[in-house]
Amino acid sequence: SQARAQGMGRFDFPEIEAGVSDNHVVADGYDADILIRWGDPVMPGAPDFDPANQTAEAQGMQFGYNNDFLGTVPHPDAPDDPNRLLLVVHHEYTNEELMFPGLGVQDGEAAFASTTQEIVDIEKAAHGGSVVEIVRGEDGKWSVVPDSTYNRRITADTPMTISGPAAGHAKMQTNADASGTNVNGTFNNCAGGITPWGTWLMAEENFNGYFWGGDQEAAEQEGLEDDPATILNARYGVPGNWYAWGKFYDRFDISKEPNESNRFGWIVEVDPKDPNSTPIKRTALGRFKHEGAMNVVNPDGRIAVFMGDDERFDYLYRYVSGDAYDPENPNPDLLDTGTLSVARFSDDGTMTWMPLVYGEGPLTEENGFDSQGDVLIQTRRAADFLEATPMDRPEDVEPDPNTGKIYVMLTNNTRRKPGDENAANPRPENVFGHIIELTAPDGDFAADTMQWDILVQCGDPSVAEVGATFSAATSEDGWFGMPDNCAIDANGRLWIATDGNNYEDSGRADGLWALETEGEARGTSRHFFRVPVGAEMCGPWFTEDQRSLFLAVQHPGDGGQEWPEFGRVSTFEDPSTRWPDFQEGTPPRPSVVVITKQDGGPIG
Ligand code: FEO
Ligand code: CA
Ligand code: CA
Ligand code: CA
Repeated sequence: SQARAQGMGRFDFPEIEAGVSDNHVVADGYDADILIRWGDPVMPGAPDFDPANQTAEAQGMQFGYNNDFLGTVPHPDAPDDPNRLLLVVHHEYTNEELMFPGLGVQDGEAAFASTTQEIVDIEKAAHGGSVVEIVRGEDGKWSVVPDSTYNRRITADTPMTISGPAAGHAKMQTNADASGTNVNGTFNNCAGGITPWGTWLMAEENFNGYFWGGDQEAAEQEGLEDDPATILNARYGVPGNWYAWGKFYDRFDISKEPNESNRFGWIVEVDPKDPNSTPIKRTALGRFKHEGAMNVVNPDGRIAVFMGDDERFDYLYRYVSGDAYDPENPNPDLLDTGTLSVARFSDDGTMTWMPLVYGEGPLTEENGFDSQGDVLIQTRRAADFLEATPMDRPEDVEPDPNTGKIYVMLTNNTRRKPGDENAANPRPENVFGHIIELTAPDGDFAADTMQWDILVQCGDPSVAEVGATFSAATSEDGWFGMPDNCAIDANGRLWIATDGNNYEDSGRADGLWALETEGEARGTSRHFFRVPVGAEMCGPWFTEDQRSLFLAVQHPGDGGQEWPEFGRVSTFEDPSTRWPDFQEGTPPRPSVVVITKQDGGPIG
């Protein structure tokens, strides 16, 4: 590619110190500027942020909470201008104790008792996603274009359609939607993807937490353990009872609306170029706790989308379109008519993609599947029947079209017992996670069989029993644990964002590390950026010229126990940090950060 012609080799930025503090830290020679914060205006006419008096109406026009995935698409009016872009952002979930005064941290039932309808409505409006037009000035700094007609908020109430094999299936029908093809909203959108045709893929991850009612244990006691709906829900952890939305809205109560939860756990396609477009849930890409949806145009023109199911012992998936992508005349059905497969890893370094096709192998009526739509609604059960390899929480998966490599983040799995290991998940009680590198044969991302290798087993290499495999050149600051999101930069180099590296007493924050994948330096990691106390690192996303790096700082001030000095609960009134404003009375604000190099050069 053009950018790769810059010929950047190994990383040579000055490494930062691992640690934790109330502010972020970036490598010397770089700037980290705040682009947009929770509560900043997105829609024309949005009111100023007033956190002590937040309303659902205001929140629906402002930047949502807990920014996660970031991506950019070309500006529809200036597609060749690298200085004008549309930024798309996920708002994964909400932290009540940090968003609302007077709530503190309470256990589930007490918290539900104090949750008002206004709080639920604000939470629903703080979920989903944002589209914001951004512009780069001559100084290389990005800013949001206020009142752009492209700016958009998507929330837990935005009308959407359902397409693909599961659309209209009996299990997708509700009292509000007898057709099984229309649904309101999306939530718990974690990582995601941008397609070659400039649409945005929103992954619905922990959707189970938003449903309550109907008690799994009670169902078992009543002899309902053989009930297909009970079995299906149990496989997804529905109801999760994390949020009180079902207190005010029947569709989140599975005892009143048993099929509503089947309409979540999908990949949602949004066209940010058309602010009036209706988002579409693409059921052909399966139903699970979708982490991301990074994709590539295969040499034969088909689209391959790589997806993790982020749960302990769940699986790695791939979708391949049936038809080729035609840039001149993109086929709107590309994400409806392809094949979903699940991964099985073998001890000999090969792995196989096994198609989830109704009527083939065990995916029959006898095993409780009545159609392809049903196989997809029950993706996890179907993959169980195919004996897919249980993984250590597959998070982001990123293919590199230039090398034929695919990087799989496996964040950790402390529940894997000695004896339950497999070759691709070799550590019992895997606290720190690992990264697998797949090799597509001759760059064929649609191939049935690939090679696999472990790029690195994460954790502190100085503690022998951890079993970390970073190279000897990795410094004390350079190792990390809990890989979550990742990006391959314009020069084919890998960057890793972590979630949980700030584990108790670690004295380390989450952040961004640069990891060498080639030659003698393979497995060498360097620390580039760290987040403030309590936060998780999301994004990352590079511009094509490698001169800007967008990062999402998620849930700053969450918990606080990671920083001994702040060994206490962190709340709206008394947070462990007031990042990034540091103003009395203003709680911490999840925000998008843009990294630039002070000399204007490429990053890294
Ligand atoms: Fe939302 Fe799997 O992290
Ligand atoms: Ca997260
Ligand atoms: Ca994450
Ligand atoms: Ca995570």
